[in-house]
Amino acid sequence: MPLLAGLMERFASQRPFEGLTIAACLHVTAETAMLVRLLRAGGAAVRLAASNPLSTQDDIAAALAARYGIAVFARAGVDRRGYYRHIEQALGPGADLIIDDGGDLVNTLHTTAVAVLPGVRGGCESTTTGVIRLRRMAAEGALAFPVIAANDTPAKRLVEGMCGTGQSVIDGILRATNTLLAGKTVVVAGFGPSGRGVAERARGSGAQVIVTEIDPVRALDASLQGFRVLPMAQAAPLGEVFITATGSRDVIGAEHLAAMRDGAILANAGHFDVEIDVRALAGLAAEVHRDVRPHVDAYDLGDGRTVLLLAEGRVVNLVAAEGHPPEVMDLAFGLEALALAWLAGNAGKLTIGVHEVPPDLDAEAARLVLAAMGVSVDTLTAAQQAYRESWRIGS
Ligand SMILES: NC(=O)c1ccc[n+]([C@@H]2O[C@H](COP(=O)([O-])OP(=O)(O)OC[C@H]3O[C@@H](n4cnc5c(N)ncnc54)[C@H](O)[C@@H]3O)[C@@H](O)[C@H]2O)c1
Repeated sequence: MPLLAGLMERFASQRPFEGLTIAACLHVTAETAMLVRLLRAGGAAVRLAASNPLSTQDDIAAALAARYGIAVFARAGVDRRGYYRHIEQALGPGADLIIDDGGDLVNTLHTTAVAVLPGVRGGCESTTTGVIRLRRMAAEGALAFPVIAANDTPAKRLVEGMCGTGQSVIDGILRATNTLLAGKTVVVAGFGPSGRGVAERARGSGAQVIVTEIDPVRALDASLQGFRVLPMAQAAPLGEVFITATGSRDVIGAEHLAAMRDGAILANAGHFDVEIDVRALAGLAAEVHRDVRPHVDAYDLGDGRTVLLLAEGRVVNLVAAEGHPPEVMDLAFGLEALALAWLAGNAGKLTIGVHEVPPDLDAEAARLVLAAMGVSVDTLTAAQQAYRESWRIGS
């Protein structure tokens, strides 16, 4: 992770977080450990909880606590009560800044940990679902501090959504099932950066890919990229592998499940485990065989058909694989660390609400990653710069 390594030196000398406590709610993975160490090098005391009950890498959590003295509140497979207790513990003594992934920490701050709220100066949110929730809170006047939508930058959407999610979701499905994608019909719900990445990688593996959408512009985009676009009701009897990436709920519901082929594989790439209606699936099943392979539950529908649910409907690339590769998280976390350092110096000047990442930070992160890859780009000449800034020169 060369971007984080480079920032480590910069933060160690500039100490942007000197004396600050940062409460973080993130997938506890090896890449997150690098971010936590970077924040600490910048002077922060970091308290870390998991952003998903199943994605914690216990060895990483233990190493962060034992070797680096970080306060970690996370364990793989913790139940819902334990999961939220961990978030409250991370917030326990108070926090100056927060980092969230999906909005559960911000939600806890505004509901059950309100005593800590007045001390929080600002935060960053890492994923689309969290940014959508924050914008709803801000619209209702419920948000109490400024937050930077670290998810919403062109570089992050490109690298994380399309490359990271695309590759790692397919990786999670293959590790869980060892299925051959070539020749299969794969249905991808949602054609945002994540769904697009998954659809492209599935097509690259030889699958015939159907996309479902609710947004006409995204549906048009998918059509023009050569994907077949259908409503889920029509895609359900055709698909052999289904992947949801919408940020919505019940995208695969009872009526779709009832129409599926024997052996259909269901996986979710969206942040929460509500995209596939798992309760409806349990209701349709005559019998459920848990863990027929790791992270695969077989739902016997009692009529000769069996449907396979991966990772209990939770985010498949983090449960059945290792999430985004380090190269992807290098850019995502480098950008987030730069945004957080900027926030530490500017929080008092920002209004309460959701703010974009300053565009120069996005460009800086992309430039540093390119430099680490040994890729250089052209720069504008003085004449080109003047031409771009002038409105007087025409044809
Ligand atoms: N698994 C990962 O590692 C990972 C990485 C990034 C984002 N995410 C999550 O994936 C989800 C999608 O992320 P994104 O950045 O692509 O979001 P996005 O909002 O840009 O795209 C989601 C798309 O789904 C469509 N959609 C919504 N409801 C739908 C429905 N019922 N049927 C079909 N399409 C529907 C929307 O119109 C939109 O085009 C979010 O929950 C996000 O948090 C997961």
